Amino acid sequence: MRCSELREEDLKYPRDRAILVTCGLPYVNGPCHIAHLRTYVPADVFVRFLRKMGREVVFVCGSDTHGTPITVKAEEEGVSPREIVERYHRHFLELFPRLGIVFDNYGSTDDPLNHRRTQQIVQELMRRGYVYPKTLRLPYCPHCDRFLPDRYLRGVCPHCGAEARGDECDQGCGRHLEPGELLEPRCSICGSKPEMRETRHYFFRLTAFEEFLRGFLGELEGTENARNYALQWVERGLRDWNITRNLDWGVRFPGEEGLVLYVWVDAPIGYISSTEEWAQRRGGDWEYFWRGPGYIVHFIGGDIIYHHCIFWPAMLKGSGYSLPYAVVASGMVKVEGRVFSKSRGYVIWVEDDYLKEGLDPDALRYYIVSYTGHTRDLDFSWRTYADKVNHELVATLGNFLYRALLFAKRHYGVIPEGEVEPRVRAVVEEAIEEIGRSLDEYEFKRMVDAVLGVASYGNRYLQQGEPWRRIEAEPEAAEAVVHNALWLVKAIAVLLEPVMPSKAEELWRQLGYGRRDNVPLAEALKPLETGLRLGEPQPLFEKIPEEKVRELSERIARRVREAGG
Ligand code: 2FM
Ligand code: ZN
Repeated sequence: MRCSELREEDLKYPRDRAILVTCGLPYVNGPCHIAHLRTYVPADVFVRFLRKMGREVVFVCGSDTHGTPITVKAEEEGVSPREIVERYHRHFLELFPRLGIVFDNYGSTDDPLNHRRTQQIVQELMRRGYVYPKTLRLPYCPHCDRFLPDRYLRGVCPHCGAEARGDECDQGCGRHLEPGELLEPRCSICGSKPEMRETRHYFFRLTAFEEFLRGFLGELEGTENARNYALQWVERGLRDWNITRNLDWGVRFPGEEGLVLYVWVDAPIGYISSTEEWAQRRGGDWEYFWRGPGYIVHFIGGDIIYHHCIFWPAMLKGSGYSLPYAVVASGMVKVEGRVFSKSRGYVIWVEDDYLKEGLDPDALRYYIVSYTGHTRDLDFSWRTYADKVNHELVATLGNFLYRALLFAKRHYGVIPEGEVEPRVRAVVEEAIEEIGRSLDEYEFKRMVDAVLGVASYGNRYLQQGEPWRRIEAEPEAAEAVVHNALWLVKAIAVLLEPVMPSKAEELWRQLGYGRRDNVPLAEALKPLETGLRLGEPQPLFEKIPEEKVRELSERIARRVREAGG
């Protein structure tokens, strides 16, 4: 297929409407780890490619600051929840740009905007009759003298029999659990067996939305895993959802002392308030997305499909807001072949284990996107990491770029004259076609493979063209080959930027173009600026030595041993 056949109107995101892309908000109860990046990096790549295709995109995220993930951590450390939230909010805020993940707004669910928006939505749901009170008997720890919501409770999952926490079967079937459902409950702080006490709670009438959800999910765009899991859950039948908790930390339930909203109410509303904050700062229109025609695309981890495809659209529908257009759910993460687990030591901390080791942020972005399809399991191992960096980035991509630029710099100093050969042009046209198709299918691996494919072709092209052999006897032919090779280098600079933004910037400098960013995709096919003085060529990637692989692998093995794994 030729580039001319890539028809704008066939793409899923036509130019006529702007797109809001969100990423699942991280709980700010600890530092950023590799499983977070499984969502944020592909989302950032998606946004950058859309922008390159001329789409208007707003990209928001923020810190998830409430609920028992935060309060349990605060109690463990003997500090206030606010202290935990401030510490890790700053950590995420500062870390994302270092990885090239650039949000238009990074908010916080504890921002007054989010408290207000959450209360407005809950009041609207109450006004429309979707929220009702009910007195329940719930676990209460006589020793700690309090109710035991969510992570304050451990016990046995009633569905699969695995060890689980109060609101989620985190080690077994992954189901959301309602308060009171867990079998053999015990207090996660002191281990006591709780007694049951009466307390008044509020429920969201989720059952009123079954028909709506069937229709909504039937049309939902995004990855199939999100749509299919959610449809299965609706088919099995929904239950009303308890949306309050006996806690002090959180968004107050309007008109009730001692109750806050369940964190899964105010967390996704954080997407709205982060858009509001963006609109305030940039003079944008948040209602264009949340009450109007703008596309809303949620990037999430595969473990929070229920919340985004069931609870969230029902809440939006019930309070008169726009619905998500797409939910893009990633597959799970493994570390050294085992399921990712902070407590068992199978974790890579992005700052301490990666950035502080002086490793390249772009190489990590590349690993995450290129390892496998977006909905499959991604395994991070240092061995595979080194193999990918050494073979794909150093030996294929970096090798072509450096060879082409070095030869050109030595022999011409500037971009030499020439015509782009049709077969060379066709390679880039095909890569652009593939990128367009893969973007629509949320297949980010295929996008980066397409870029690497251009570099592999470049290596073969140089090898066959042999400019080093021909430069004396056939100077014009040699010059033509170098011109074509540099044209491929420029195309790679354009196509690579969404995946490896710093490398693309460096490549533009080496090509002599100076600082450029967000260059439109179509520029990959434009002619070179001949006569432009080339910059200093330098290898873009560094090999990972064997000792480093051993040292980093040993660090994980030690962590696992220390965790008793
Ligand atoms: O599962 C989590 O890590 C949640 N903090 C994700 C929230 S996503 C959104 F709804 F805010
Ligand atoms: Zn279970």
